[in-house]
Amino acid sequence: MKTTYIKAAAFCLASLMGTTTAIANDPIANRQTAMKNVGAAMRVAAGMAQGKIPYDALAAELAMRVMNSTAAGFGSMFPDGTQTGGDTEAAPKIWEDSAGFQAVNATFLETSGKAAEAAKAGEGDFKAAFGAVAKNCKACHQDYRVKKN
Ligand code: HEC
Repeated sequence: MKTTYIKAAAFCLASLMGTTTAIANDPIANRQTAMKNVGAAMRVAAGMAQGKIPYDALAAELAMRVMNSTAAGFGSMFPDGTQTGGDTEAAPKIWEDSAGFQAVNATFLETSGKAAEAAKAGEGDFKAAFGAVAKNCKACHQDYRVKKN
């Protein structure tokens, strides 16, 4: 009885630890989740920039901060060994031209940080600053992402 209980408890603990480790150590899933968040932030930001959604300074700032925090960690989400697997769309060029990749990401980090500040100043300032942020999506994807369908 007691042994069964201990065995069950040990099994639960092992499964729990297994789950936690899998989440924490899966850079492919982490970077894809981060980019999904960037995509959602983009829909809000672009909607406001195009006048399809009424401008809201807090929502605009939040969207830029989501992108900014993604950019802050994105450069270290491509360790060796994650070139393939997990349905990754990461292009080989990320590893072949690491400096180039980090440079585009640094621009993404800088422009999204500026746009988060500009959002507080009002719609005009936000729109001007957001243009520089939006360019980064294509700039990075065209070289460093291989889109699968
Ligand atoms: C510095 C490079 C870089 C920048 C900048 C960047 N992306 Fe990405 N993005 C990637 C890479 C690499 C992937 C593929 C990741 C993978 O599958 O491992 C990706 C994937 C995505 C995905 C698919 C996520 C999924 O798996 O479902 C979306 C959506 C996306 N990006 C949106 C955006 C938008 C919108 C912007 C601009 C605001 C942007 N990205 C800027 C590199 C970038």
